[in-house]
Amino acid sequence: MEAYKKLRNSIIKKKANIAVIGLGYVGLPIAIEFVKAGFNVFGLENDIDRINKLQKGESYILDVETEVLRKLVNGEKFHVGSGSGILRHADVVIVCVPTPLRKTKIPNISYIIKAIRAIAVNLKSPSLIVLESTTYPGTTRDVVMPILKRRGFREGKDFFLAFSPERIDPGNTKYSLMNVPKLVGGTSKNSTDLAYVLYSQIIKKVVCVSSSEVAEVVKLLENTFRIVNIGLINEFAMLCHKFKIDVWEVIRAAKTKPFGFMAFYPGPGIGGHCIPKDPLYLSWKARKAGFKTKMIDLASKVNSFMPAYAVERVKDILGGKIRGANILVLGVTYKRDVKDLRESPALEIIELLKWRQANVSYSDPHIPYLRIKNIDLTSSKLSKAILAKQDCIILVTDHSGFDYHFIAKHAKRIFDTRNVFDSYNVRSKNITAL
Ligand SMILES: NC(=O)c1ccc[n+]([C@@H]2O[C@H](COP(=O)([O-])OP(=O)(O)OC[C@H]3O[C@@H](n4cnc5c(N)ncnc54)[C@H](O)[C@@H]3O)[C@@H](O)[C@H]2O)c1
Repeated sequence: MEAYKKLRNSIIKKKANIAVIGLGYVGLPIAIEFVKAGFNVFGLENDIDRINKLQKGESYILDVETEVLRKLVNGEKFHVGSGSGILRHADVVIVCVPTPLRKTKIPNISYIIKAIRAIAVNLKSPSLIVLESTTYPGTTRDVVMPILKRRGFREGKDFFLAFSPERIDPGNTKYSLMNVPKLVGGTSKNSTDLAYVLYSQIIKKVVCVSSSEVAEVVKLLENTFRIVNIGLINEFAMLCHKFKIDVWEVIRAAKTKPFGFMAFYPGPGIGGHCIPKDPLYLSWKARKAGFKTKMIDLASKVNSFMPAYAVERVKDILGGKIRGANILVLGVTYKRDVKDLRESPALEIIELLKWRQANVSYSDPHIPYLRIKNIDLTSSKLSKAILAKQDCIILVTDHSGFDYHFIAKHAKRIFDTRNVFDSYNVRSKNITAL
C-alpha cells in the first residue's frame, strides 16, 4: 500500500520522473505532452540519427512541430539520450518500441523484451511501467512481468504494470493524443489506478478496463475492425468493376443511411505500421490457442492482393501492354500527407511494374529518394512535359499538395486508386477510378 500511495502522490504532484523508451510516432508526442504538463521527462532512443535531430530540436514526426520541440529540448524538463542508466531515476517508464512482424509474418516482440530487460536492470522501486506498443494479449502479464520478477522485484511493492494502447492517427488534425480517450488496463487494480492517474495528467478522458489483457485486445479489435471492413470494400470494388458499376457512387449512396452503415473506401492496398500488422498478432495468438481467425485471414488476403489488382487494371487501361510503357506512380507514402513509407502499397506496385518491365518513375513531395531492394528512384517534379510523356499515371497516395487539375490536364491516362480526382471535381475521360 505504501508503494502505491507514494507513487500516486508523486504523479499527482508532478514530482514523478517519467522515462519514455522509443521516441517514434507514439513515444515522442507522449513525452512532449508530459513535459508540457510539468513533468521531468527522460526520452530514450537508440536511433542515433533521431537523437541527433532531437538534440538540435528538429522534429522528424509530422505531428510534432519543430518550434515546440526546440523550446522543450532547450528547457530543463526534457532530456534525450540513449543510455538506459537514466532509468534508475525514473518513477514511471512508458514503453513505445516497435512491434514488427518477422519475415514469416509472426510477431516480433524482441524490442519489448530488450526494453523491459533494460528496465529490470535499472528499476527504481517503486515504479509504474506502462507498455504502449501494440501486441498480442498476454504480453504484459506473461512476458513483461516475468522479466521483472526474475530479478527479484515484487508486483505491487517494487513495480506496478499496465498496458495502454496508443490510438494516435498520424496527420489527423481533428483527433490528437489529447482528445482521444485513452484506455488503461493493469495487471492489478492498483496498477490500473496508477496508469489512470498518470494519463489523467495529460488526457481529458481516461477509460479503465478490468485487465491488461482486455486493453491489449481492445487495440487489436479496433484495428481488426478496420482491416476487415477495408477488405470487404476492396472486394466490393473488384466486384463492382466486373458489374461495370461505380463503387464510389455505391458507397456515397449507402452512406445516406443514418444507421447501420459506416463508409470504408477501397484502395491500392493497406500500409503503415499498424493496420496490416496488428491483426496478424491476434491471429498468431489465436492459432496458439487452437482457434482460427477466418475473417482476419481472409481480409488480409484480399487486402494484400490489391497492389497486384491495381497493376492489372493499369495493364487493362494500356490495352494489355505494360512492357516498355512509361508509368508514373503518384504518391508513394502509405497515407495522405505523411512522410512514412512503412508497408506502403506503392512499393509493391513499383516492384510489380518494374518486374513487368515498365519504365517506372514516381512523384511524391514527401519522399525525394526511394530505394526498394535494388531499385533506386528519385522523385520527379510534375511538369507538363513529364506528365505528357507518361503512358499512364497511377495515383496511389492522394496527397493534398498535388495539383489535380494540372495533372488531369496534361496526362494521357490516369488510374485513380483513391477516387481523389472526383473529390476535387476533376472529371475527364482520361481518368479511370478503381
Ligand atoms: N505509428 C502509429 O501510428 C501507431 C499507432 C498506434 C500504435 N502504434 C504502436 O506503437 C508502437 C511504436 O510505434 P511507432 O510508430 O512509434 O514506431 P517507431 O519505429 O516510429 O518508433 C519506435 C522507436 O523506438 C526506438 N527503440 C526501439 N527499441 C529501443 C530501445 N530498447 N531503447 C530505446 N529506443 C528504442 C526505435 O529506434 C524507434 O525510433 C508499435 O507497437 C506500434 O504498433 C503505432
